[in-house]
Amino acid sequence: MIRAAVLGHPIAHSLSPRIYNRWFEETEIEGHYEAIDVAPEAFETTVRKLADEGYAGVNVTIPHKERALALADEASSSATAIGAANLLLFRNGKIIAENTDWCGFSEAVEREGGPLSGDTAVVLGAGGAAAGVLYALQNYESVLLSNRTRERADAMAQRFPNVDVVPWEEKLSLGQTASGLLVNTTSLGMNGYPTLGMILGEPGPDMVVDIVYTPMETKLVRAARKGGKPVANGLAMLIWQAVPSFEAYTGLPPKRPAATLADLEMEFA
Ligand code: ATR
Repeated sequence: MIRAAVLGHPIAHSLSPRIYNRWFEETEIEGHYEAIDVAPEAFETTVRKLADEGYAGVNVTIPHKERALALADEASSSATAIGAANLLLFRNGKIIAENTDWCGFSEAVEREGGPLSGDTAVVLGAGGAAAGVLYALQNYESVLLSNRTRERADAMAQRFPNVDVVPWEEKLSLGQTASGLLVNTTSLGMNGYPTLGMILGEPGPDMVVDIVYTPMETKLVRAARKGGKPVANGLAMLIWQAVPSFEAYTGLPPKRPAATLADLEMEFA
């Protein structure tokens, strides 16, 4: 029996148990995946307890991703460069930190035919999710980054040599900038938040990625779709980051991850 979980705070609305338990069933692997609400002060003890109990590993989400990297015995080069882990594997008494968030982003872009290299990409937001996106965009000549809190954008630009900061007051102009990708990693556009207010103009981006998926179609995504541009959202990123995690737990890839994504998209549409 393979056991795994996602640890977060809050975690009640996580889709991960549904995704992984469906994949266990489809691959006929005996496994169980659960969501565990863990307060920050209990994070490390909970991880070590689950490792002792024989869990294969855990996925980690807000607010634990940096802490997860810090407590690991070993870390992959991507987790180290991103500064956060969304996957901890328990192997031979050791805790190994991995990051599959950037793979989820890359896969979501590639599946829609979007470019992962080129002259210019635009990224809005400089929080935890932005670091994985910037790591995945290292093959761009230039990434224009804009964030409400300037210092966070400047700190990101220090870590990724192809990143240049654009003042938040000028962010709307980035909708007209010729770019391979425009990526929203902020909470703007999410239910309960103001909208981003971005208007896509000419030439604008070749593809738009919005990390938000509640609602499934933000104003930004709708505008891009209307303009005939490929789009991806946070649900696609969630599915495609789960694929390598599932494979790390079980040694096998899930059978039909695209069908899982399509079903969830339909459910939340
Ligand atoms: P995550 O790990 O999901 O990226 P986060 O670290 O809290 O979460 O980052 C959220 C992002 O959304 C940040 O870029 C944040 O901007 P700040 O760095 O200025 O906080 C951005 N964000 C959230 N609410 C916002 C708002 N009302 N206006 C502009 N940006 C906002």
